[in-house]
Amino acid sequence: MKTDELRESYLSFFEEKGCVKRPSDVLVPRDDKTVLFTPAGMNQFKDQFLGVGKLEFPSATTCQMCLRTGDIQNVGVTAYHHTFFEMLGNFSFGDYFKREAIHWAWEYLTDKKYLGLDPSLLSVTVYQEDDEAYNIWHDEIKLPANRISRENEHENFWPAGAPSDGPDGVCGPCSEIFYHPNGGKDNVEIWNLVFTQFNRVGNPPDNLKPLPKKNIDTGMGLERTASVLQGVRSNFEIDTLKQLCLAAGDIVGTGYDFDAPSGRPVRRISDHVRAITFSIHEGVNPGRDKESYVVRQLLRRALLEGYLLGKHEPFLHRLVPAVVEIMKAPYPDIAKTVENVQSTIKEEEEQFLGVIEKGLSRFEGFLKSAEQAGSSVISGEDAFDLHQTDGFLIELTEALAAKNNMSVNRTEFNNMMQRHQKDSGSGAFLDSVMSEGPLTALHKTISETDFKGYETTTTESKVIGIIAEDRLVESMVEKGHAHPVVVVLDQTPFYAEAGGQVGDTGFLEADGIKFEVTNTQKNAGLYLHIGHLLTGKLEQGQTLTATVTEPRRSGIQRAHSATHLLHHALHTVLGENAMQRGSKVEEDTLRFDFSHSKAVTPEEISRIEDIINQRVSEGAPVTTELMKLQKARELGAMALFGEKYPDYVRVVQMGDFSTELCGGTHLSNTGQVGLCKIINEELVAKGVRRIYALTGPKALEKTRDTEKLLLEIAAQMKVPRPDDLPVRIQHLQDELRETKKQLTKFSSKSLAGTADDLLEEAPVVNDVKIVAYHAKDASRDQLRELADHLRKKGKQVALILGTVLDGKVALMAAVNSDLVKQGLKAGDCVKAAAKVVGGGGGGRPDMAEAGGKDPDKLDEALTTGADYYRSQLEV
Ligand code: ALA
Repeated sequence: MKTDELRESYLSFFEEKGCVKRPSDVLVPRDDKTVLFTPAGMNQFKDQFLGVGKLEFPSATTCQMCLRTGDIQNVGVTAYHHTFFEMLGNFSFGDYFKREAIHWAWEYLTDKKYLGLDPSLLSVTVYQEDDEAYNIWHDEIKLPANRISRENEHENFWPAGAPSDGPDGVCGPCSEIFYHPNGGKDNVEIWNLVFTQFNRVGNPPDNLKPLPKKNIDTGMGLERTASVLQGVRSNFEIDTLKQLCLAAGDIVGTGYDFDAPSGRPVRRISDHVRAITFSIHEGVNPGRDKESYVVRQLLRRALLEGYLLGKHEPFLHRLVPAVVEIMKAPYPDIAKTVENVQSTIKEEEEQFLGVIEKGLSRFEGFLKSAEQAGSSVISGEDAFDLHQTDGFLIELTEALAAKNNMSVNRTEFNNMMQRHQKDSGSGAFLDSVMSEGPLTALHKTISETDFKGYETTTTESKVIGIIAEDRLVESMVEKGHAHPVVVVLDQTPFYAEAGGQVGDTGFLEADGIKFEVTNTQKNAGLYLHIGHLLTGKLEQGQTLTATVTEPRRSGIQRAHSATHLLHHALHTVLGENAMQRGSKVEEDTLRFDFSHSKAVTPEEISRIEDIINQRVSEGAPVTTELMKLQKARELGAMALFGEKYPDYVRVVQMGDFSTELCGGTHLSNTGQVGLCKIINEELVAKGVRRIYALTGPKALEKTRDTEKLLLEIAAQMKVPRPDDLPVRIQHLQDELRETKKQLTKFSSKSLAGTADDLLEEAPVVNDVKIVAYHAKDASRDQLRELADHLRKKGKQVALILGTVLDGKVALMAAVNSDLVKQGLKAGDCVKAAAKVVGGGGGGRPDMAEAGGKDPDKLDEALTTGADYYRSQLEV
């Protein structure tokens, strides 16, 4: 069975059992602060497990893309580890439970209609105290006792060890199913059935509270199961991944042979390139923290593997089409960002390749000194040095050290890192899985707030919940709360921050009561009005008039509609690849991030601005419509990759030129934008540009400010009108140039002084003065000039000078021509010195120049040069 067929077969089996088939969630869930990447199929169903929000379906089945880095060192080494993988799952939210979960798993695995695995090659584990699961396997499935083992909470609980170690939240015992190919010699875990039946509260004993509604969460590794079905010895040998490994072997130049020494690195490259392709597709570029750091780590690791196989040029980006080829059937969107993903990868590859050689040679040096000192540990300081100067992430240095049977002093490294940088960690996946807070209780009484803000800015609303100091309270009076208060209403005109648009502000009022809303946020369908009670007493159940502050909301709408116009204009001027990466919409102010590999030119900015304002003056109608996601996609509505969309989406259309999925509030006509002015364009991350723009009154104010500024500058420059400024500035620049010339002369004078000092201090050997000098910050010309001064003033001088220019070493040696006759050669001197700094060069016997790569060794090189003269003179 092909991998694509297995995915479909699993999903339709569970659809037949009544589960609702849902799409994979994104790989990088930005609204979930507890994880960096989606670690399991259940992640998108946390609210359903907790009973939060409206339950749209009681059970579901998915194939979820996941990324875990916990086992990264095993990737390519073992048969079954990945970073990126897909997890097949079926889930029940208070619907079916243990009996069905076990029976269906068994049916799917063993029935000839489905996978038809030999039952005698399957075994299971259960949690030691879970008699219910044991009995179902033993009495109903008729699995012999010797193929059911009872394990402790570290093996058979999810999250692992939760009863003793936490985290608090929903959890439960699990039962794992293993397959034993090769006559039982091998052992592959293929399916984990989690019986999510408890809410953990505090420490043992008695900390596992049975949930009123019991859940099922299961996870089956797609690639593992495919490898079992295809009878291959590793996940990397299944139809899809094998194809990727072959492509990787091809591009790296080693070919792919499972058992060859290049087998492991090629498998790692294949794994990592799949992970980074999906991450970058969702807009997570290589970078310095959090998810971005993980992407950078995976990319550099993969690149280094290729480098060590002899591939010394960027190659990872060339593998993106191969990833798309094997993954586009289930995830067709991945084919739409190939160009952007490739250029992002390539740029990072080039950057890292630029330093890899130097880093590797420094690593070798550290390795040697550790060995010489009889140690098998590379110091944290050395590792930190490699990290800071050569971009060798600690994980990379550790992997390299491990290859040489060495380790790295991680504690020391971490300490140094902490001192220099906050927040670089690749993060633990499961800090808190699903803990309960004051909102959880509210969610159980009301599923969602009715949002009226598309039609009106004021409603009569009932208070459903009040949260003060993190607790749900019946009523409250203002006591100078340091913490803001949260009010939940049954219906509201307040827009809650989403899709880049900020939350509304305003007031909740009734007789003698006034609550100021300073921000509005959303939590699984509940609108949270955040602010302070100014007067009166707030009570559950009372009716308040909720009013959004109008001028601010209008400004936000102008900016939001202008954002769509900007998006449209960017596509027109820069092309379809200028894809939206994020946005922030505030009162008459907007920020828009998009993929683009180079700076947008001033001409392009003008064209973009022209198109926007032309669309404004057209006064095109803005209409909105709710429709099925599928239909919206067919209409060509622009959507963000890596963004979650519900089944029904709101589509905002402007004239016949812009169609976007958007939940924001908009103008009814583009003309209401008034004016849109781009004020800045900048780089925010690799391959991502940001445009700032203003609308309406703020745009006008900005042009006025610019005018005022010009008038002020004109006054300061003492010209009557701004129009005279260019001529005036030209004059000033000429003056500046003249002054600089004078300064250079001055510095020539000071070079002459330096020469005098150097000659006075120089050691004399055999009547010859030897000068070795590091002329800090000197240019090459200044080195030459200094050498001339020395030779002129000294008569009998042998000299070597050095400087650091743009991180590289420049050396110059010279001797008086008389000395050449005595066998003193500047060329030989500079050659000896250049060797020390990893370079070469030469020249005439009386004057020679060289370069080198290692500025840290410049002083040593100068000493070597001086030693050369000395040895020639002492013979
Ligand atoms: N959530 C469970 C796991 O990841 C199924 O193993």
